[in-house]
Order: sequence, then C-alpha cells, then structure tokens
Amino acid sequence: MRTVAEVMSAPVVTASPDETVAEAAGRMGERRVGSVVVVDGERPIGILTERDIVRLAAAGASVTGTKVAEWMTADPDCVEPSVSVHDAFASLAEHGYRHFPVVDRPDRADGTGGDPGDGGPRLVGVVSMRDLMRVASIQPVVPPGQIEVPRGLKGVIAAETQVGDVRGQEGFYHYRQYSAVELAEQRSFEDVWFLLFEGHLPSAEERAGFLAELASLRQVPDAVQALLPPISRSGGSPMDQLRSAVSLVGHAEGFRPTFDLSAVERRANALRIGAVVPTLIMALHRLRSGDEPIEPHPELGYGGNYLWMLRGVEPDPEVARAVEQYQISTIDHGFNASTFTARVVVSTGADVAGSVTAAIAALSGPLHGGAPSRALDLLDAIGTPENARPYLVRAVERGERIMGFGHPVYVTDDPRSVFLRGVAERIQADKVEFAKQVERTVVEVLAELKPGRNLYANVEFYAGVVMDHCGLPRELFTPTFASSRVIGWCANLLEQAADNRIIRPSARYVGPPPPQPVPAP
Ligand SMILES: CC(C)(COP(=O)(O)OP(=O)(O)OC[C@H]1O[C@@H](n2cnc3c(N)ncnc32)[C@H](O)[C@@H]1OP(=O)(O)O)[C@@H](O)C(=O)NCCC(=O)NCCS
Repeated sequence: MRTVAEVMSAPVVTASPDETVAEAAGRMGERRVGSVVVVDGERPIGILTERDIVRLAAAGASVTGTKVAEWMTADPDCVEPSVSVHDAFASLAEHGYRHFPVVDRPDRADGTGGDPGDGGPRLVGVVSMRDLMRVASIQPVVPPGQIEVPRGLKGVIAAETQVGDVRGQEGFYHYRQYSAVELAEQRSFEDVWFLLFEGHLPSAEERAGFLAELASLRQVPDAVQALLPPISRSGGSPMDQLRSAVSLVGHAEGFRPTFDLSAVERRANALRIGAVVPTLIMALHRLRSGDEPIEPHPELGYGGNYLWMLRGVEPDPEVARAVEQYQISTIDHGFNASTFTARVVVSTGADVAGSVTAAIAALSGPLHGGAPSRALDLLDAIGTPENARPYLVRAVERGERIMGFGHPVYVTDDPRSVFLRGVAERIQADKVEFAKQVERTVVEVLAELKPGRNLYANVEFYAGVVMDHCGLPRELFTPTFASSRVIGWCANLLEQAADNRIIRPSARYVGPPPPQPVPAP
C-alpha cells in the first residue's frame, strides 16, 4: 500500500500569520498551488486555501487589508507521512478537506507531539485530494444488507420453486409433490413431463391430448435438418454439437425473447425444444457414424422412440423401459448447476433456446453431467475385482476423484443410484455384479482415506451400467442425460419467467487496488 510520503508535495509553500492574504495569494499563484500552510517556525498553525480566498472576496473583505491569521483555518488536521494513501483519502473525504499538511512527529517517550523545539510536529509536505486521487485505492461501496455466501453458493436458497427439491440428509428427491423414484417406477416419461409443466398428473384425456401435441414437435425443422450434416462433421463433442443445433432450432422456429412472450407462447417454445432434443441427439449421432437420421416413431413412447432413432429397430420393451426409467429419474434435481444456468439466462428475458443452450454447456462438465462414461471407464480400468482396492487407493492418494461418487447435496446414498442399481439388476446388465463390488470398495476406500466426507455412488455410476447394457454408446451417455434434463430446465425456466426478477448477484473484488496508472503503450 502506498503512503502519503510517496505522493505529497515538498517543500511546502508556506505563509506567515502576519502577512496579508494578497501576499499569500500571490505566492500561491506563482507556485501554482491551491493552498499555503501557515507556519510558526516549522510548526503548522493554519492553512489558507483558494477556497478561503474566494469566500473572503465574496464577503466583500479586502485581500490587501486582511491578515492571513484572520482568514486561515487554524489548527488544521494534519497527517503523518507513513499513513496509507487510502486512509488519507478516506479522512479528507470524510471531513470535506482538500489539503492536509503532512507533519513528521519524532518519537517522544509519551507518544504525543509537542513543540518543534523539543521534537514536536514538523511540517514536511502537503498532500492534496488531487495527489491522492491519482493513486488512491478506491474501495468498493458495500451496500447495506449485502451478505457473504459460501463458495459455490452451497446451501444458499436462491429462489422459490414448486418444480421439485432434493433432501440431501434423507436421500430423497421429488418432482412437485411426488417421490421422483416412485414416478419413475410407475409412470411414463410423458406423464411426468406433463406433471412438471402443468402441475398435476394427466387424466387419460389429458394424456392423449399431450401425446398428440408432442408428436408433431419431435421433427427437426427443415432449415436445421439441412445444417445437421456439417455440424456432425465439425469435430466438436456430441454435447457441443447438440448445443449448436438447439440454438439453431430457436432461430429456425422464430423464438423471441421470453420477455416479449405470453405464458402460452413460452410454454409452446419450451414444449418444442423438449420434444426435439432427443431427435437432434440421435440424428447427429447417426450422421457422425456415417448413417442417415431416422424419423421419430409415431407409436413408441419416449424411451422406445429414443432407442428406435438410434438403430431403426423396435427395441425390446424391457430395455426401452429401463432407458425411460433412467430418463425419468434424471428429469430434475433441485437447483443443480445447469438448472440454475437455465434460470439465470431466462431471467434476463432471453429466449427459451438460448437458455437451454447455456444449460447444455453447464451439463457438459465432468463435475456435473459429463461423468457417466468416465464411471464406466473406471470399471474398465480396474478390470478385475482383486485390482479394485489397490487401484482406488492409488488414485485417491494421487488426489484423483473417483468418477460417479460424491455429491454436493447428498450425504447418504443418492436415491437415483439406488434406483438405477435396481434397474441394472432387473435387466441383468452385463457389468452390474462387478459394479456392485467396485461400489462397495470405493465407499470403503473413500471412508478410510477421506473420512467424514460422506462419499457414496451418485446417479452417474449405475447410469453408465444401465445405458451400456441397453446398447447406448458411451458418447451418448451425457446427451441422454440432456434428453431428459431438458424437461427439468424447461419447467424451471417457465417458472422463472412467470414471476421473473433478473438474477444478478455480486462479487467481492480482490485484485490489485484500482485505479493504477495505465502504463504507456
Ligand atoms: C460431485 C462433486 C463435484 C461434488 O463436489 P462437492 O460436494 O463440492 O465436494 P468437494 O469438491 O468440496 O469435495 C469434498 C471432499 O471430498 C473429496 N471428494 C469428493 N468427491 C470425490 C470423489 N469422487 N473421489 C475422491 N474424492 C472426492 C474431495 O477431494 C474433497 O476432499 P478434501 O476435503 O480433502 O479436499 C464431487 O463429489 C466430484 O468431483 N465427484 C466426481 C465427479 C462426478 O461423479 N460427477 C457427477 C456428479 S452427479
């Protein structure tokens, strides 16, 4: 931190108390300074500033007939050279002064100043507001009521929602008022989608109407269809490509900012994006593999149609149901990073496709949705049950994260992992027995090496096992997560837009103090 000594002016232009204001003002003009310090020997006893002279003239007094002592500010506040520029600035601003005499107070036994003759205050410079402004670190204004929150906003309640929630202590999560796991056990994907959009489970009539409405919305718009082959050849990851395609759908369909839309129009946009995402995922995948995209199957449900668009073969209903159950179980999950992202973007009034595009980017990271293929890679790398413990101990000791384990909210079993373990067992997934052994070992090793962190399998561990068995290639694991989470994003963004306030938190600036002089180029 710079000090007053570094920025003050010295030697000081001084005046004596007995000379006239005109004489002192003449010296101020000659030396181009805004004040003179009035001294008795070396001791400052007053200060006379340009402002004082203006006041004197305004009062009709004569500058030649008035002594400095009559018009100066006596016993001015002084500052010591070692004081920081910031503190001096704050003090000037607080008192409304423009200049401080700078005085050196040689150490005395009693710590007070005293007369110059016996080592009292000695004028060594003057510092002005202008000197300080050049270098002062202007501190940010902290508005009253501003609060500090934990890193990553962990545990912070940032909105009210009726979409659903996660109870980390209990290992429970729900969509609206129903257990998400029970919905995944008993209901179709479209029923749960309806629940999230409309707030209640559909009647038979409502279901039929909803399915009919969705059927036409699954098609990729022609303008985007033509752009999918170049996107598929772009070399980006499947999530990158999906992000680009979703953005283009918004444009092709003429989506406008949600700020300008009615609730009915916003819902229509959200339904369109939700319905088209699975088609885009599979069309891009087939194009990447050198195959033609397959049109959605009008008769098949969500999971069945998803697999149909992969190979053009009607899937085994057991397998289709397993994929659909995975998809239902991942529709929504509290204020996770991608859902929050979707809400932040729509809170600016941006369009639905833009909000979903941003959410896809957030989901693509390995700390969020980008891990299921990595969890399966882990099983491959371990290879045999005997290798599990030494492999895992080495990995944790090297500071690596075991993919598919740990969760920011759950401190107990992730209910999705428990549910999907059951699904994997029911369909007798190839890797399920080995995965269960590895899971037990990971939990043991993490409890030993990371005690107290409560690390258990998360959704991604068994998701990989289920999807692998159902014939989904690894590169489609995270896009498949997106195929269902898009419904949660849309339900959340509709809720946000219906009662919106722009989401705009604050940050504490901790960089070098501004304003620093800009270096010459
Ligand atoms: C999901 C995840 C990001 C949650 O993070 P979080 O709740 O913020 O936890 P933190 O990152 O603060 O980790 C807390 C501690 O547990 C450890 N930890 C957390 N997850 C771990 C894992 N999977 N393997 C090894 N150690 C882990 C951290 O190293 C940290 O240890 P430390 O206290 O010695 O620094 C984290 O558990 C993780 O990286 N998991 C692996 C990736 C994954 O499965 N992602 C999919 C999520 S659905």
